[in-house]
Amino acid sequence: MGNQATSREQLGICAEGNLHSIYLMLNANEGVEAQVRPCVANVAQYLYELADKYADSAFNGFIAIGANYWDNLYCDARPTQLKPFPAIHEGSREAPALEYDLFVQIRSDRFDILHLVANEVCQMFEGLVELVDEERGFRFMDSRDLTGFVDGTENPKGRQRQEVALLGEQDPLFHGGSYVHVQKFVHDLSKWHRLPQKKQEDVIGRTKLDNIEYESKDKPLYSHIKRVNLKDEQGNSREILRQSMPFGSVKEQGLMFISVCENSINFEKMLESMMVGDKDGNHDHLMHFTQAITGSAFFAPSLDFMIDQG
Ligand code: HEM
Repeated sequence: MGNQATSREQLGICAEGNLHSIYLMLNANEGVEAQVRPCVANVAQYLYELADKYADSAFNGFIAIGANYWDNLYCDARPTQLKPFPAIHEGSREAPALEYDLFVQIRSDRFDILHLVANEVCQMFEGLVELVDEERGFRFMDSRDLTGFVDGTENPKGRQRQEVALLGEQDPLFHGGSYVHVQKFVHDLSKWHRLPQKKQEDVIGRTKLDNIEYESKDKPLYSHIKRVNLKDEQGNSREILRQSMPFGSVKEQGLMFISVCENSINFEKMLESMMVGDKDGNHDHLMHFTQAITGSAFFAPSLDFMIDQG
């Protein structure tokens, strides 16, 4: 095992936003774990090196291992909080689980590079995995979600991104790794656009054009930011780093929601607060305008963990 204190994180975990992204959802064939393991390490190393080669277009990426597949690859050690996606069905609101064995996120400000790299990654895995789903994300206007609201404003900034997203000494073997949750949300934009702007703003809890947060007293209990602004038992803010981007085509479009975090509980608590709501049943009204069609839990280990195990 390498020196965990200096384990290199995968560069896509904490990267700043980009113009384009590609997401690959992969399932491994049966009985090929011994080949998949070194291949995962090679892909991680390849993505790491491309960040230098394509620095001009801010290339970054990471590969993550599904909660249900982890033990097949690394049976000797498991991140303590890695568990399957916490599916929720509450009334008409659904956050289903749809797990994948592997997840690759690549991002850059040049789409042609991403296209080349996505093909290369699939080539490296040839005969070992099946590409089950693929999405291409893009920056929309000034980093807005397709609802027209700026997304990512309250994300951790600077070094705080690492603090929120990467494991430290609490699980030394997994230092530099991150818990990853992915949900593909498909928006009902015609329904959303029929909602008057003030009501849309009430649903989010921020103004639309100038992106100003509502005063605390004015935030409806059903607003998105009210529902996800949570504190832990010690009174500290529960934080995640969101790496979401809009995706899709005219036919089907929405948000690839991606949370990376040094724990898994913060995401779980937020999702529960959105879908189930508080004790009075105040849930997130944004969910009346969008539907999660996938939900997957992964762990993205440090580059060094994968190389050591490969
Ligand atoms: C904030 C959109 C799903 C967690 C926001 C904001 C927008 C937004 C517009 C306000 C600006 C900002 O601070 O980024 C969406 C959309 C979603 C979605 C369109 C899905 C369709 C989720 C989910 C979670 C989540 C599933 C977590 C389980 C957060 C958090 C904030 C936030 C933690 C920051 C709140 C704050 O500190 O003010 N989201 N979001 N979001 N969202 Fe979401």
